Amino acid sequence: MWPLLLPALFAGALGLRTLEPPPPVSTTRNTYEERWLDVRLDHFSAFYNDTFPMRFYYNGEFAVNNQVNNHIVIFVGGEWAISPGWVTGGLAHEFAGYIQAGVFYTEHRYYGLTRPTNDTEVSNLRYLTVDQALADLAQFIEYIKSDEFENGLYREGKVVLVGCSYAGSMATWMRLAYPHLTDAVLSDSGPLHAQTDFVEYLEKINSVLLEQGGQTCVNSIQEAVNEIVPLLSTQTGVTTISDVFNTCSPQTTNPMDSSTFFWFGITETLAYLVQYAMPGHITDACSVLTNSSESSAMRRLANYVNAHPWSQPCIRNSYSDVVAGHTNTSFDSSDSVMRLWTYQSCVEFGWFQTTNGNLHVFANAIPLEYFHQMCQDFFSLYFNSNLTESGVARTNLLFAGLSHLPDYTISVAGGADPWAPMGPTGTHESALAPVFVVPGVSHCRAIQSTENSESTELHEVKWEVMNILSEYVTGTRMSAANGVFASLALILCAVAIAA
Ligand SMILES: *[C@@H]1O[C@H](CO)[C@@H](O)[C@H](O)[C@H]1NC(C)=O
Repeated sequence: MWPLLLPALFAGALGLRTLEPPPPVSTTRNTYEERWLDVRLDHFSAFYNDTFPMRFYYNGEFAVNNQVNNHIVIFVGGEWAISPGWVTGGLAHEFAGYIQAGVFYTEHRYYGLTRPTNDTEVSNLRYLTVDQALADLAQFIEYIKSDEFENGLYREGKVVLVGCSYAGSMATWMRLAYPHLTDAVLSDSGPLHAQTDFVEYLEKINSVLLEQGGQTCVNSIQEAVNEIVPLLSTQTGVTTISDVFNTCSPQTTNPMDSSTFFWFGITETLAYLVQYAMPGHITDACSVLTNSSESSAMRRLANYVNAHPWSQPCIRNSYSDVVAGHTNTSFDSSDSVMRLWTYQSCVEFGWFQTTNGNLHVFANAIPLEYFHQMCQDFFSLYFNSNLTESGVARTNLLFAGLSHLPDYTISVAGGADPWAPMGPTGTHESALAPVFVVPGVSHCRAIQSTENSESTELHEVKWEVMNILSEYVTGTRMSAANGVFASLALILCAVAIAA
């Protein structure tokens, strides 16, 4: 089911960010419920009491009836529609089983079915900010701990937040903003430093391709780019591009269309490969990219791209078509989620993945101006570069960027995650804010269950994370029995890999 969902979810311009982390296979069945809570539309005005229904999933299988000290584990939703998989599987669910906690999954305002306004007109998007979304979570936690929810089953419980990617950033920021409501945090792959021009992203894509795919593979991509760039500026050249790559409309020589083709056709395809790579994926891709039976490097790249068409049914290459899709203000439009995430990017975070860095083979195909233009064309002329710069500065002012990690917050970074340059590393850690960097793993891998670990290191980090979380919440590490179980699982895992 999951591969079929990809085309729709990846339809947007900044597509890599709008995907729910692949939900785990349920380890328990039919134990969750979909529920709703009315939260304030504007938490920061005392004079304005309008509310909207926020969706969440709840799994109470580990809570003990007639007690008031069941703990609370919240898997935080980011810029995607929530699905029940994360209250019935994954590391948050696994940990909840050890500490006798209810498992919750909250949907971020504006995404999925949590729709505070009738549509996504610019004037209606003014309540789409991370500070409002954190305040929703604060109101949610207060509600779960009240007698109104399950007769006070969680009244004296501790609160653990687990999130990855943007939702990981949110989990960290909850501990900063609402320490009285948040006892411990696991933030996986969460970018904490807002930055307009995210040059490090494609540099990291390049370095991971080099590490895991080899020099010949990266050389082959470079050679392909060297063939493609001159073709994009002549009339006969763009005809060749349309033929070789399966573009949605005839390629033009307009620079905005060149950047659009380059983004959807090349950098996003390779970024998707790297950001979600499991062992073997990059070497498989490189065997296509370096296949000597095809002498043109451009055609070898096209063979790979056309076989991994996540922006199905063709490569989006018309900037005006992209604008048309992203200015549809219906929540049900296929580009709606990307319109919303682009809004947050333009107003709060930047994180525009340009080719302005030096350490990559993607030429200078995607300048920062491409994204500034997009902000103006999707929303209005008011959304210019000054607005983005001041929004990014505001975000770093409110949440400290990488200058301060809150206590009782565990961060995990993937050594091969292109988002890692915006998140914490060992140099940012302190006694009560440990940071684990797991070599070789991609984005959002630490939130999967301990069983679903591609390396011994990742497996061990997950157990250590659960032990530390347990210490923060209950005062002790998990029981010795769990430790034995952990080593046993490790041995079984090693046997499975050997087999
Ligand atoms: C916007 O998207 C909705 C939902 O997919 C669709 O029904 C509508 O026709 C679209 N509007 C325009 C102007 O394309």
